[in-house]
Amino acid sequence: MPRIAYVNGRYLRPCDASVSIEDRGYQFSDGIYEVCEVRGGAIIDERRHLERLRRSLDELRIRLPVTLRALAVIMRETIRRNRVRDGIVYVQMTRGVARRDFSFPPPGTAPSLVVTARNLDIGGNEKKAQQGIAVITVAESRWARPDIKSISLLPNVLAKQAARDRGAAEAWFVDRDGRVTEGASSNAWIVTQEGRVVTRPADNGILRGITRTVLIEVIKAQNLLFEERPFTAEEAYGAREAFVTAASQIVMPVVQIDDRKIGTGAPGPVARSLRESFHRHAEWS
Ligand code: PDD
Repeated sequence: MPRIAYVNGRYLRPCDASVSIEDRGYQFSDGIYEVCEVRGGAIIDERRHLERLRRSLDELRIRLPVTLRALAVIMRETIRRNRVRDGIVYVQMTRGVARRDFSFPPPGTAPSLVVTARNLDIGGNEKKAQQGIAVITVAESRWARPDIKSISLLPNVLAKQAARDRGAAEAWFVDRDGRVTEGASSNAWIVTQEGRVVTRPADNGILRGITRTVLIEVIKAQNLLFEERPFTAEEAYGAREAFVTAASQIVMPVVQIDDRKIGTGAPGPVARSLRESFHRHAEWS
């Protein structure tokens, strides 16, 4: 399988692809990223992902290294060169290369841009969705702005590893009030015993997932009861269903949280139906 990465203007084989040790992404995690699903060779919800990318850059006062139109071309070319049909395209931008100094580098420092793309095991994902995944809860330990899709992901890395160590696939962060914020790399949802689909409001405390945004439209189109409000880990234990959403997983049913079985212990009908309907509501380009 060909593997080609776009790095600051060039398409390179991984062995030739590199960034400077003084890249601020490497030094300070001073950058942002996006992950879009690729399906049948098309990019899913590209417009929304690029809007969020621009917002993340604005929040951190990082200049866009190329126009969004040029970025869209680079993403497609990276997908093409890697022969990706069903997978992901990854975009990372940092504040650029400069001598290590905490404050911003001199004006005119070019931001860095890296784009990669790879196929995912769609069959494996589907099988996982049929079985459902286990989730653990961990104390929220991130900074106050998880709404910015920053490459600074250390708490997420540690949470994900804690999940793996306990045989789970995802970790849900729980704030000081016992309320679930989101997953280490996904948004968190439950379906209450009354059939209400619940997810936390997208304030500064979570990433406003693109899958989450589109799924709210699917939920409304299906006339399901929807509540955008915080829920506790306790409430999640007693939920009829639970699931997570992310571009790389769409809707992934959760069948266990900590040592509690959720619902019947098998993926529920709401999660299954939302997963099936998602791509009819998403934008393909
Ligand atoms: N993760 N919350 C967090 C903390 C995330 O990292 C992600 C995505 C989401 C879901 O966002 P979206 O629906 O836009 O993918 C929520 C990506 C897939 C990743 O880091 O690989």
